[in-house]
Amino acid sequence: MRKLFICFLAILLISITFSRCFDLAFDIPYNAKPLNEDYACLADKGYYTGVIEGLKSNGNCALDAEYKLNFCNQHQSRCDLSFDLDLDKDPVKQIDDAFDCLKGLNVQNYKFNKLWIIVELGRQANGEWPISNDSDRSSNVEFISNVLDTIANYLEVNRIGFETNESDWNRITGGSTIGIGFDLYYHGNYQQSFEDFTPFGGWTFSQVEMKKYATSKDICQESFDLAIIQ
Ligand SMILES: *[C@@H]1O[C@H](CO)[C@@H](O)[C@H](O)[C@H]1NC(C)=O
Ligand SMILES: *[C@@H]1O[C@H](CO)[C@@H](O)[C@H](O)[C@H]1NC(C)=O
Repeated sequence: MRKLFICFLAILLISITFSRCFDLAFDIPYNAKPLNEDYACLADKGYYTGVIEGLKSNGNCALDAEYKLNFCNQHQSRCDLSFDLDLDKDPVKQIDDAFDCLKGLNVQNYKFNKLWIIVELGRQANGEWPISNDSDRSSNVEFISNVLDTIANYLEVNRIGFETNESDWNRITGGSTIGIGFDLYYHGNYQQSFEDFTPFGGWTFSQVEMKKYATSKDICQESFDLAIIQ
């Protein structure tokens, strides 16, 4: 009987060790406009991190970023920004413009935690990432490289990361390892766990910071993408 009990205890301990709890995050799609009470409601449900898709290189979009960051900072303990690159604009100028725009709105760098560079198909306003051949892929990598160099003028390296998924990253960059010194926010399967992660682009599991596991989920009075944080 005593043996049985010890065995039961051991199993319990093992399962506690392996069932990790992750912090929950929400990701606000660019077009969503949650209200102040939605951020409060999300905090009540345990979502203490928000990622705001807010920065587009056409300037006025940063207005939304300011509005959303203000609410987020009132209710969440961490607020990140994510942004789409604009292939039609010079990579250096678009980053300078975006930071100028934020500064113009009084959004200093301390108002957000991390900046995620979205590298994903299907998000370009005009045209798409060209992915026909190796020369397309190497010019995509060069573009991303110029963007990174420019952001590094504004933010420390540990505040810059990539948001992407394995198949898009490989199609756009040909599996480049250019992001290797930066953290990763990957889009994975629908499980609230990191078990589906397979290394790509040189990223290993230790550089995975977040995983998006659901899109367009109605929660509180709005629709959000949902993520977990390591
Ligand atoms: C690669 O594809 C692009 C179209 O995306 C085309 O303009 C270019 O000529 C191609 N380059 C080579 C070397 O085939
Ligand atoms: C990655 O993104 C593409 C579209 O951009 C999608 O077709 C694919 O299902 C995504 N994969 C994952 C694992 O999210």
